[in-house]
Amino acid sequence: MADRYLTFTATAPGRFLTRRLGLPQPTRLRRWSPEHPTLGGELLLLRTADSPYAKDLPTLLRSTGHQPTSTTAAPTAVVLDATAIRGARALAEVHEALHPVVRKVADNGRVVLLGSPPEGSDHHQAAAQQALEGFTRSLAKELGRGRTASLVRVSGPIATAESTLRFLLSPKSAYVTGQVIETGPAETVAAPADWDRPLAGRTALVTGAARGIGEAVAEVLTRDGATVVLLDVPSAGQDLARVADRLGGSALPLDITAPDAGERIVAALPDGCVDILVHNAGITRDRKLANMARDRWEQVIDVNLGAVLTTTDALLKADAFRPGGRIVATASIAGIAGNAGQTNYAAGKAGVIGFVRSLGPRALAEYGVTVNAVAPGFIETKMTAAVPVLIREAGRRMNSLAQGGLPVDVAETTSWLAQGGVNGQTVRVCGQSLLGA
Ligand code: NAI
Repeated sequence: MADRYLTFTATAPGRFLTRRLGLPQPTRLRRWSPEHPTLGGELLLLRTADSPYAKDLPTLLRSTGHQPTSTTAAPTAVVLDATAIRGARALAEVHEALHPVVRKVADNGRVVLLGSPPEGSDHHQAAAQQALEGFTRSLAKELGRGRTASLVRVSGPIATAESTLRFLLSPKSAYVTGQVIETGPAETVAAPADWDRPLAGRTALVTGAARGIGEAVAEVLTRDGATVVLLDVPSAGQDLARVADRLGGSALPLDITAPDAGERIVAALPDGCVDILVHNAGITRDRKLANMARDRWEQVIDVNLGAVLTTTDALLKADAFRPGGRIVATASIAGIAGNAGQTNYAAGKAGVIGFVRSLGPRALAEYGVTVNAVAPGFIETKMTAAVPVLIREAGRRMNSLAQGGLPVDVAETTSWLAQGGVNGQTVRVCGQSLLGA
């Protein structure tokens, strides 16, 4: 559904009126397109003292197509390497680096801080590195004009941050802001031969792919080189076949809650193997708990969580993942913040976050598979178009970018997580929604 307010505020009278009334000022986000695949402009690289990545980071940024500079009047991106900050005093260096430049960052620009994981054994380092989280989340709320800020905690060699930096420093991350992402470990990295088609030669299975976010995920994975197998309920068979035809993939009509769903998925995969599994299928059956019959509870838990667990287990047990396998599940900010009328949905989605946190390290050690999740916020789909108008408007505006996301925003994030470099993480695609922030 079109966001008329966003269109209105893009006009001169609209801007004038909404400013006078103190209403939100969304900036139309610049998303990836074949004509505009990069942010363009200049990347300002700053660092605090003693960074271990002083030599390797500029090299890495150059290999990602940026020409880092240490002075520029109007950067489209600013990267601050704060990985070496180890105490409260040193935080002054963050202020010193960003205070003079933050106003100059171009519309739709990016601020990316690099930090280190807070260490258990050094409470000064842990405090300072945790401080970067509060700092980044606050800056993301201040920036406005479609600009975003996120913190990347680098764990291990700087190469672990490559896919994440490529994503954050591109238009593909337009609706991802205020996030803290930890990279690595090193075994999660698999640099593709061609970064324009990073998933070339991979097979991806996407559940719930007949429409909405799942369809967008299948489309972006195909753009990035993957061959897709599209799964949805048999009653969505026609739509599923249409999407599969359009993308040159294959259709698998199947209810993921069927007791033998895992085995049937393995049987339908080319050679019985897959590289990428995207758990996207999901349903809502909203009611306050006091009014919620058991069947509504069970349906939601079965689809949104139970089937994620059982189909993953079945594919791992059958050794269906090729080396470098990737699982990306779909949580929701409702699973982080909770939502009245959604005890079932939020329970299922919070369960997904627990699933990736627990299985990620073990699946990597035992099968070489990473497990991550996306947590969408308000995304413009048929589901959110059906929400009553006032609640819909509140959902759209209550985030740092003052607008809803698009299915493609979730899809771009999913594709990045399918490339590796990150494990056990849940990344919100919510424009830094106030819910659960
Ligand atoms: P949608 O309702 O448009 O699409 C979901 C798809 O999953 C449908 O095609 C449906 O047929 C399929 N599906 C449902 N049950 C299934 C089953 N048992 N077996 C196989 N396929 C099944 O939903 P949308 O908006 O595209 O959401 C996709 C995912 O993103 C869901 O997991 C949802 O919970 C999540 N999400 C969506 C948000 C939004 O704003 N739209 C916000 C947060 C999370």
